[in-house]
Amino acid sequence: MKTRDRVALVTGSGQGLGKAVVFALAREGAKIALNDLSFNEKKALETVEELRAMGTEAEVFLADVTQEAEVDTMVDTVIKRYGRIDILVNNAGINRDGLVHKGNLQTWSAVLDVNLTGPFICTKAVLPSMRKNNYGRIVNISSLTARMGIVGTGYYATTKSGLIGLTRVTAAENATKGITCNALAPGYIKTDMMLKYPEEQLQALIAKIPAGRLAEPEEIAEAVLFMASDSSAYITGAVLDINGGYLI
Ligand SMILES: NC(=O)c1ccc[n+]([C@@H]2O[C@H](COP(=O)([O-])OP(=O)(O)OC[C@H]3O[C@@H](n4cnc5c(N)ncnc54)[C@H](O)[C@@H]3O)[C@@H](O)[C@H]2O)c1
Repeated sequence: MKTRDRVALVTGSGQGLGKAVVFALAREGAKIALNDLSFNEKKALETVEELRAMGTEAEVFLADVTQEAEVDTMVDTVIKRYGRIDILVNNAGINRDGLVHKGNLQTWSAVLDVNLTGPFICTKAVLPSMRKNNYGRIVNISSLTARMGIVGTGYYATTKSGLIGLTRVTAAENATKGITCNALAPGYIKTDMMLKYPEEQLQALIAKIPAGRLAEPEEIAEAVLFMASDSSAYITGAVLDINGGYLI
């Protein structure tokens, strides 16, 4: 088992990619601290019930990743409950489209808060205990939009590019402490975030993907599992592209 008895905190994991990630980590023996917004509590509780049904120790910790005090309390509570945090997956995220020349600061700030400030707050909250334990795996969910200029992604791509910067610096600052920090840059995944687009728009997008389809959340979760396990101990500060060949 690749994550046996490891304690994993996965943000925004009541649904979508985060949900697939907690199942992959749990399958390999991890204990799960499932984070989401109180807005999404019902789905979070259902996910935890499913995890418990497969014999996994799991609990919901509601917190908004943009709120430092809420995150600090969550991290303290998880550590009190499980003794430590070995794995942090910064997965919570939102997407807003818009052209830069028509952009507005309110949307800019909202996306920046969740997608970049959130991972910063969560990372700095878990690092002191990871550094003390000389062990940690931090996996940041970036995006294909950070790897190329895609029209309409100004808000989102900027945050996901910034997250790669945070990944590299966190990796450099903690490499001697048994802590790795890596980013994944997934292409388009079959979750609510994508499925909200009209079918016509989705088909046009799929036509640009060499693999000819969207990613299943479970396919991305396997890469998170790898980065969260001991198999990737010598990989740090890396960005793994997972996009069905989009960048070819
Ligand atoms: N779907 C895609 O095509 C795609 C592609 C590349 C990267 N990503 C990234 O993958 C991650 C997961 O996205 P998804 O596709 O599963 O989307 P999703 O909308 O299904 O899930 C996002 C989750 O994050 C939670 N969340 C949102 N704001 C939060 C906050 N402030 N605090 C705590 N939780 C919060 C939501 O409640 C939800 O459970 C995101 O970071 C997203 O940017 C998605």
